[in-house]
Amino acid sequence: MEYYQIEGGVPLQGEYRVKGAKNAALPILAATICKGGVHEIYDCPRIGDALILTRILEQLGAGVSWEKDCLIIDSRSLTGNAVPKELMEKLRSSVFLLGSLLARTGEATVYRPGGCKIGKRPIDIHINGLRELGFEILEDEEKVTCRGKCRGGRFHLSYPSVGATENLMMAALSGESQTILENCATEPEIIDLQGFLRSCGFGVYGAGTSRIFIEGSRGKNDSMYFIMEDRIEAATYLMAIAGTGGEGILTNIRPELLEEVLTVLVRMGVPLRKYGDRIWVKKPDDGLGRTALKSPGILMTAPYPGFPTDCQPQLLTLATKAKGLTTIREEIFDSRFTHKKDLMKMGANIEICGKNAIIKGTDVLYGRSVSARDLRGGAALVLAGLMAEGITRVEDIYHIERGYEDFPQGISQLGGLIETKNERETKEKSESIGEIAGIDFTDGSHICRAVPSCI
Ligand code: EPU
Repeated sequence: MEYYQIEGGVPLQGEYRVKGAKNAALPILAATICKGGVHEIYDCPRIGDALILTRILEQLGAGVSWEKDCLIIDSRSLTGNAVPKELMEKLRSSVFLLGSLLARTGEATVYRPGGCKIGKRPIDIHINGLRELGFEILEDEEKVTCRGKCRGGRFHLSYPSVGATENLMMAALSGESQTILENCATEPEIIDLQGFLRSCGFGVYGAGTSRIFIEGSRGKNDSMYFIMEDRIEAATYLMAIAGTGGEGILTNIRPELLEEVLTVLVRMGVPLRKYGDRIWVKKPDDGLGRTALKSPGILMTAPYPGFPTDCQPQLLTLATKAKGLTTIREEIFDSRFTHKKDLMKMGANIEICGKNAIIKGTDVLYGRSVSARDLRGGAALVLAGLMAEGITRVEDIYHIERGYEDFPQGISQLGGLIETKNERETKEKSESIGEIAGIDFTDGSHICRAVPSCI
């Protein structure tokens, strides 16, 4: 079992180039099969979820290869339209294959998707939309099979779900007449999906607004596309730099994608400058050289352009060391305070009342052994470890690796002390040190704090 070992208290300093966006890459990977062709996808993050999705594409008959940071998907010949259950259940984004398989073959069989356990996450809006657009649906507890062609017309989403908007955009490509989706989500990643579909020759307009028009295919098959930057990764690094009392520059990030996050950070006293596609960030200073974060007061998550739910756990961590009371209301998912218990173990003061987390800032967090329970909650625990005194061990890091490409490398590049360790190796080392020192390390309760620096 791998885990991160973090030595806290080191201010992060330097420059970091933001990687391609997970939440743009995943629907785009699924969309590469909407039409047969060879697709060169640049800046695709090598994250767990993308790797699983490419395995599914391979199982459906597509060719997948990487050339440096370019992912090449050859979808000219597909051999199946059923997604294997065990892979389907590994991630939420497998649900996008419903739309893309329908666009390509007029039939798709999928299972209930997996993904982070941050709430109920049904797919009723996806299914209702497909039914309204004319597809025949057969579903039971586990499996959904859809058949047919989009008949066009209008569909009004009952809620601006990001995934349902993207899935329906793809399914609607199977039609000959125009489809209009209303009350769509407006996240920038949806504009990126539209950009990719247009680069393949599809007529899709309006993404980024609540009304999207889909007109189907206009020739052209192959494509070359650059994935947009990951605004959530950028926010995570900004908070890590500010929270550790450092100073740094993020490149490859358009500040306008992060307006709400930047506003909250400014409210917390964090000095920021935006220029071009860069953001400079520095620690909030109390005038005596100490980091002095202020509470941002009350904030709530909301669909774009509101405060992103995907940045909420990281902000909650930051608020644990901000002077005053912070209230964070989670409006998108019903179970997204998964790291609260571990933060409390580290010395944070947090109370959950329904949808609200009430955080009373404290001066110090302490390194502890903690476990990631989902992607962003896990990243937020890494932030806590970097901001804490002593050593933090973050277990179940596969959750984090699903959405952050080589997080330890990025943090180390900024001078942070983080290492990926292996439980077995650590145990073996500890046991032999224990033998030498006459200490029993075998109960696993330690995290090598006693290990001399030469190990
Ligand atoms: N919802 C329904 N029915 C549906 C679809 C959604 O009730 O058919 C509800 C969900 O249960 C949730 C809310 O609507 O309470 C929002 O869900 P949405 O469909 O918008 O989210 P998603 O498509 O499942 C994407 C991102 C998430 C991000 C959300 C919200 C991808 C691959 N995932 O999920 O990213 O939190 O939008 O912005 O784009 C993450 O990166 O950590 C992550 C979870």
